Amino acid sequence: MACVGGGSNAIGAFTAFLDDALVRLVGVEAGGTGRQRHAAAAGHGTPGVLHGSFSLVLQDGDGQPLPTHSVAAGLDYPAVGPEHALLATRGRATYVSVEDDDALAAATRCARLEGIVPALESAHALAHAGRLAAQLGAGAHLLVCLSGSGDHDLYGDVLARGESR
Ligand SMILES: Cc1ncc(COP(=O)(O)O)c(C=O)c1O
Repeated sequence: MACVGGGSNAIGAFTAFLDDALVRLVGVEAGGTGRQRHAAAAGHGTPGVLHGSFSLVLQDGDGQPLPTHSVAAGLDYPAVGPEHALLATRGRATYVSVEDDDALAAATRCARLEGIVPALESAHALAHAGRLAAQLGAGAHLLVCLSGSGDHDLYGDVLARGESR
């Protein structure tokens, strides 16, 4: 499981497990503030070209990229790398979304429980890991890619917002 902006940290984590059918691969995209303000291109994009790649793109009818939103700047991108489009189309990986507030809550929880301040990008994957852990129960193994640290996210009231949830 890994967050997906353009998809580089996720593809790096997934590569080792591509041929292992027992391992589920889950990409976690930015759900932003909901249906119209997100950056979930693997989950909601359509085939198109952005920055020279044919992939899944959030785009309008003319093929222009749509505005996106995420509390995590690194996820705020209207497409994914073509490897993810392939994995999504083949069903080898699944792609889910986590909204801003849930990612902030997961970042705060990780900082409090583990003493690790995750990047807000990574916190999207952590939030989904929490949901999945509750479904799978004890004995399941979850591997979450922490793509970066959140020191740079500590300014302002960002994590304080997570604490209120
Ligand atoms: C810490 C961190 N994680 C994840 C990402 C998302 O990028 P990618 O999906 O390409 O790994 C970024 C992008 O800037 C980032 O800074």
